[in-house]
Amino acid sequence: MSDKNFLRDFPILNQKMNGKPIVYLDNGATTQKPESVVRSICGYYGGCNANPHRGAYQLSVRATDIYESARARVAQFINAPAPASIIFTKNATESLNLVAYAYGLTNVGAGDSIVITVSEHHSNLVPWQRVAQARGAALEYVYLNPDGTLNDADIERKISARTKIVAVTHVSNVLGLKNDIKKIADKAHSVGAVVVVDGAQSTPHIPVDVQALDADFFAFSGHKMLAPMGIGVLFGRENLLDAMPPFLAGGDMIEYVEEQSTTFAELPQKFEAGTQNVEGAAGLHAAIDYIQAIGFERIEAIERRLIDYAIPKLSALPFIELYGCAPSVIEKKTGIITFNVKGVHPHDVSTILDLEGIAIRAGHHCAQPLMKFLKQNATCRASFYFYNTIDDVDRLIDALKKVRKVLRLEP
Ligand code: ALA
Repeated sequence: MSDKNFLRDFPILNQKMNGKPIVYLDNGATTQKPESVVRSICGYYGGCNANPHRGAYQLSVRATDIYESARARVAQFINAPAPASIIFTKNATESLNLVAYAYGLTNVGAGDSIVITVSEHHSNLVPWQRVAQARGAALEYVYLNPDGTLNDADIERKISARTKIVAVTHVSNVLGLKNDIKKIADKAHSVGAVVVVDGAQSTPHIPVDVQALDADFFAFSGHKMLAPMGIGVLFGRENLLDAMPPFLAGGDMIEYVEEQSTTFAELPQKFEAGTQNVEGAAGLHAAIDYIQAIGFERIEAIERRLIDYAIPKLSALPFIELYGCAPSVIEKKTGIITFNVKGVHPHDVSTILDLEGIAIRAGHHCAQPLMKFLKQNATCRASFYFYNTIDDVDRLIDALKKVRKVLRLEP
């Protein structure tokens, strides 16, 4: 299957925007959905819709089967030891909040430390700020080397005997660089801390094996990997999940309710209060099927070809400043390229690219401490997926050449 053939499965990418064929380069924010995923959602509502786990009748049994088979598929996809260790949430943000409130508030005390990195998305930062503030704990940051990689000496320094939680992104949503989670997990475990991994930007792009990573918790979103919005995943070690109090309370997460007390359901239901997003789970199942049919070897090869082509072309433009793209880090890179056009605000760059039919993200990327570390208020970000093509990169480069001219900064 050539790259072009993927487009048959994504009708949205065959449209025009501002009269030009669309070039969608905002896959870090959300990916497009193949027809098989859309069909799985319609199929669920067309033939199987009922509330799962609640009815003894056939439709409810069917909805339960769809929901639980999606859970089993997710477990297999990330090599979790059992489906019970997979909790469905709304997105990675909710998964990380779940860990912060249910595990963090219970296990972090005054004088302890929570260690994160300066490249975290706000979703893996603000919840830890709140836990640290609530418990009188320190929130400590691991900083970066000038090339954007994590500073190993700082990891050694910051993870100490008082550290209870190390929360780290698998791949930065701004720099696109992969972190060595196993190494960080080894260090965290050596001091008795748990490791919480934000896998929102890794799971769609590289194979994830939570056991090989030795992650205690691992969070990701469906919508960044072809699935619908509103379905996310939290993997947690069963002994940790078992010992945690529930996050949200309500229907289906209970065993018995008395007037003044409640006992809770077994995993995973204990963490899934209220009616769940069954169509989202069906869509996630179909998305995993689609991704596995292509295979990560192929997905990684396509993204690598795109960045290997794009980065030298962008570097050759004197008005472009790149972040996290030095030759020394290319091996660690997924399909995210972050840059600025000198003298032009990223929002203006994005608006001018939009006139050419090109969608990128501009702003602080929900990573303001990282922006400050990079000494930038904002950046532009082009993020690829397997359906992007070399032609898309050429269109991006041609459009960038126009930006300063449109603003009359160049003749
Ligand atoms: N977290 C998403 C991004 O990085 C929205 O764009």
